[in-house]
Amino acid sequence: MPYGCQATTIVSLILNGSVVVAHKTILLKNIILGLFMSFYVDNLADVKTGKIGQNSRIWQYTVILPGAEIGRCCNICSHCFIENNVIIGDRVTVKAGVYMWDGLRLGNDVFVGPNVTFTNDKYPKSRNAEYACLETWVEDGAVIGGGAVILPGIRIGIGAIVGAGAVVTRDVLPGVTVVGNPARVIKIG
Ligand SMILES: CC(C)(COP(=O)(O)OP(=O)(O)OC[C@H]1O[C@@H](n2cnc3c(N)ncnc32)[C@H](O)[C@@H]1OP(=O)(O)O)[C@@H](O)C(=O)NCCC(=O)NCCS
Repeated sequence: MPYGCQATTIVSLILNGSVVVAHKTILLKNIILGLFMSFYVDNLADVKTGKIGQNSRIWQYTVILPGAEIGRCCNICSHCFIENNVIIGDRVTVKAGVYMWDGLRLGNDVFVGPNVTFTNDKYPKSRNAEYACLETWVEDGAVIGGGAVILPGIRIGIGAIVGAGAVVTRDVLPGVTVVGNPARVIKIG
């Protein structure tokens, strides 16, 4: 069954000797399927990919397109969007309100704060015939503070920290902390 707890089930209940067949989503469904499924998708999420690792959880109003890949033990909070060409590693936390566009790669143990903005088109315009999707890489253990903006084609190195509200215009080296607009290094290691 591809979509974890989101799959529709038919539950039969015996009440006063008569059988009631419930075709609708009910809480009991989650409890029953939760025993068998290896990941959890909230009933209010819209998840089209089956590539979700064991023990990952997807919360309300998050939309995930069919090509996306999500690793094990991830927590994707509510109101997120994940496009097709997105790969997310294991033990990743994505807080609420983050849109992850084609070309995004999140390593293992990455933390993405609420309302972080990722981008993939450096010179956007409507109906852009020259659209070139740039890849953004967030390497293992990196942390991105709430509301940061990551410009297209950026690499955020292993264990790096991006401060809340930063606008990241250049690669961030492993282990360093950057803050501000444009983001500047305030700490190394
Ligand atoms: C980046 C961060 C980790 C730095 O923490 P820190 O190493 O303890 O740094 P400090 O608080 O000592 O601040 C050092 C300097 O950087 C500045 N600074 C810290 N964070 C900043 C930020 N996000 N934007 C701009 N400047 C910042 C401080 O004002 C201070 O400047 P000063 O030396 O001129 O006074 C932290 O401030 C931060 O932004 N954390 C992310 C929080 C978040 O988004 N959480 C999401 C989950 S709720």
